[in-house]
Amino acid sequence: MIKFKNIAIALKSPIKAAQYSAAYWSYKRAVASFAGLSNKEVEKLYCEIFESDFIKDIAERSDSPVGFSNLTMLAPFRAPTLYVITRILKPEHVVETGVANGFSSAFILHALEANKKGRLYSIDLPNQPGQVIEKQTGWLVSDDLRSRWDLIIGSSRDMLEPLMKKLQAIDIFYHDSEHSYENMMFEFKLAWKYIKPDGYMLADDITDNSSYNEFVRDNDCRHKELFKLGIMQKLNRGVSI
Ligand SMILES: C[S@@+](CC[C@H](N)C(=O)[O-])C[C@H]1O[C@@H](n2cnc3c(N)ncnc32)[C@H](O)[C@@H]1O
Repeated sequence: MIKFKNIAIALKSPIKAAQYSAAYWSYKRAVASFAGLSNKEVEKLYCEIFESDFIKDIAERSDSPVGFSNLTMLAPFRAPTLYVITRILKPEHVVETGVANGFSSAFILHALEANKKGRLYSIDLPNQPGQVIEKQTGWLVSDDLRSRWDLIIGSSRDMLEPLMKKLQAIDIFYHDSEHSYENMMFEFKLAWKYIKPDGYMLADDITDNSSYNEFVRDNDCRHKELFKLGIMQKLNRGVSI
């Protein structure tokens, strides 16, 4: 169970505390049933990340208004869930699009380090003048996690296919770049071809347009939606679109 560091916050905001707790239970239960594990096994992995020095360090350095033990947002579960899934699948190759500050990259890399295997390949556009992220792309990823990381600067339109061709087969693809219908569908279709049978494709902000719903409808997969995070598992029977 997550320990609320500040019980006073929970007492002051019981509705937020209840929402946080309900979200935690639904993430944990959904991941456990999707991966065919017990709630206890998955809870152990969430505890591993929530109680780590890594998460304290990221929360401190990002000065994140959401915080990880803060009761104002449900969003803290997204990155920890990437950690948990990476721990469960023990992948060799993970590919993600959309790095920005590097929350997702850092959590995936931390899981690879705990697994003692695997590489993460991340694609993001070059920093644009005046963009919100003023620091270097992926600045939250600490030096000790970078040995398992290839950060590729460029658009997924140009970089994803050559990367996939080089890797030939991947275990996990995570979409978190531009959430337009065209771009999501482009990345889903391309990545799907290279995901190993039983591998996972994850996508953030699946409610932004209909690409996710169409993709899971038209392809041979199991899927689960966790708020705005979609999880698809490729079944053995190939691509239909
Ligand atoms: C929502 S942010 C990624 C957040 C990140 N995954 C995290 O956990 O902090 C979206 C990122 O996608 C990048 N992006 C947008 N369009 C892209 C494209 N076509 N190819 C690669 N990256 C893209 C942007 O530069 C931005 O950094």
